[in-house]
Amino acid sequence: MDQNNTLPMTAGNAYNENCHQQTLIMEGSLPLFDDINLGSNLTIVDYGCSQGRNSIAMMQRVLNRMAPSSTASLVFEDLPSNEFASLIRLLPELSASNPTLKIYPSLIPRSFYEPVIAPATVDIGFTSSTIHWLKRMPLLKPPTETVSEYYAKRTCRNAPEAEENFREFLTLRGQEIKSGGYFIIACFGSFTEEEITRYKDALILRHRILFQAAEKLANEGKLPLKAMEKINVPIYDRSEEEFRSGIEELKDTWVMEEYYRKMIPHPAYDKYLKACELEDADENSKTEAAKAYAGALIDWLVAVMGDMIKNWWRESGVEDDKVDEIYQELLVVAKDLLWKEGPGGAEIPLMYTRLRRA
Ligand SMILES: C[S@@+](CC[C@H](N)C(=O)[O-])C[C@H]1O[C@@H](n2cnc3c(N)ncnc32)[C@H](O)[C@@H]1O
Repeated sequence: MDQNNTLPMTAGNAYNENCHQQTLIMEGSLPLFDDINLGSNLTIVDYGCSQGRNSIAMMQRVLNRMAPSSTASLVFEDLPSNEFASLIRLLPELSASNPTLKIYPSLIPRSFYEPVIAPATVDIGFTSSTIHWLKRMPLLKPPTETVSEYYAKRTCRNAPEAEENFREFLTLRGQEIKSGGYFIIACFGSFTEEEITRYKDALILRHRILFQAAEKLANEGKLPLKAMEKINVPIYDRSEEEFRSGIEELKDTWVMEEYYRKMIPHPAYDKYLKACELEDADENSKTEAAKAYAGALIDWLVAVMGDMIKNWWRESGVEDDKVDEIYQELLVVAKDLLWKEGPGGAEIPLMYTRLRRA
């Protein structure tokens, strides 16, 4: 594990257009802002802002509570490979809807596993749907393992790296956030045994299906084996215990003021249920609704991973002019596999906390 993760979300505004579940995740954190005294000169940093849709909504919620004539420095941070151009297009909205405030946006293209802003300058730090991304690329799938086997072992393999990354992340933010300042975190969690039986492991299921689709294409000779084996999505979903003990370890720096855990569904699930409940819904229309739902979940996933997959394929020797054609076939196969396996309720466990800098 020596290569850093530099993988961005899918470009062309694709993330912004398909991040509805992350919107619900971000919204789940908003009550944590509501009783913070914002003052008249606030610096807020969103660590891992992506293409900005959810980041801007969070910032707007904070600006709504600021007194007229206050100054707000809004800092948007993400990897240098992030498509900041989509975010930049959203910035005028913020200034237009807050004419009485003095707003200073800035962008920081740097990994959050490095220092990103001057020490003790931040009043509120925020991060949502981000810190399950690891600093380095994990082990490639060994040719001797199937996709299912690789996924079964992935959690154990990535755990030590995730523990170290969380420590580093919290330590760095502890240097940047002022004493008395806040850090609000929404972090993907892992499913408990009981939740797996109730909900299925929605997130792992979606990832596994996508790569099983690639495995199918490779077995049919449509994708080089090498391209399929490059399954190294650099993520780790922490257990509640890992999350809480990671914070507890730094108790001289961080005081946990609030904590809760919530299951956050994908909005397409509601749409699917409603379609099935219609009075005239027959088996055919229910099947169509289930297919549309499975499709929405795969579209959600490739808004995060699509460019990453295509880049791996190019690096593995797939010719440029073949990449898009194979990719379209991958999506069709993955949607079909997910529909057949049954995507369940698509809930993801989220851990929310508000930390106070000691
Ligand atoms: C699923 S998106 C979440 C984006 C946004 N916070 C939201 O709620 O919609 C994850 C983001 O984390 C960013 N990310 C992953 N690793 C990172 C790192 N080491 N440094 C900075 N950003 C990172 C990705 O580039 C991506 O934009």
